[in-house]
Amino acid sequence: MTETVILKLGGSVITDKSGECAIDHARLHEIAGQLAVRRGLGLVLVHGAGSCGHPEARRYRINDGLASENVPGVYHTHTAVSRLNAAVVDALRDAGVEAIGIHPLDLALAEDGRLASFETRHIAEMIGHGIVPVLHGDVVMDRLKGACIVSGDQLVTRLAADLGGRRVGLATDVAGVLQNGAVVPRIDRDIVRRLDIGGSTNTDVTGGMQGKIAELLALADAGIDSHIFHISKIGRFLDGTEHGGTVVTRRGGP
Ligand code: IPE
Repeated sequence: MTETVILKLGGSVITDKSGECAIDHARLHEIAGQLAVRRGLGLVLVHGAGSCGHPEARRYRINDGLASENVPGVYHTHTAVSRLNAAVVDALRDAGVEAIGIHPLDLALAEDGRLASFETRHIAEMIGHGIVPVLHGDVVMDRLKGACIVSGDQLVTRLAADLGGRRVGLATDVAGVLQNGAVVPRIDRDIVRRLDIGGSTNTDVTGGMQGKIAELLALADAGIDSHIFHISKIGRFLDGTEHGGTVVTRRGGP
């Protein structure tokens, strides 16, 4: 079977993160073009929420757990990010990619903020038929908290483990993990301790770059490397060539 490629588009790449669900359709169109010319890949796409979901999740304090007053936040957060999902799927389909949207709220259950159950067998079937499943960070029901936000990064690590994805990439609006303005080419658990990685400046309920690295280090522990790179290098990542970003790997890895 061909290699599965799991690619996450950060929310800040496809929305204007300082606005209210401001979808960057031009950027989506460009990305769709890059994916359309590489249609043979066994690809799973995951995207973040950016300004379509983070503001709602924060406003309704979803990550504090559900109480009677913030229950409507489940609907509003899910609806906002689903709107973005529809735009991503539309852009891909317009470019000729056989994409279909998948909503984690429908098929996942969390426990204290972490995915406890998550059905992926149908996703494997889709890949086998050349369908590109498009998932997204979402609000998910949680057996302890009522509900929580599961980030696209958490989904990526889970998909990579379940599907045996051997190429994992996260396209962001920065060149990689930065230290004093320069890209750190490789990080592992030892290196990350010596770095000072900033949080996100916008309304990010899932921890920005720090949250992302925590997820990817756990994936590296399981033996799966991942790549963080600037969105303009998406073609290079998909082609397996140098993208100038950061590789997250296991201690003592390459
Ligand atoms: C957040 O997902 C999901 C919601 C707030 C509904 P991510 O944490 O993956 O989103 P980005 O990439 O930071 O925008």
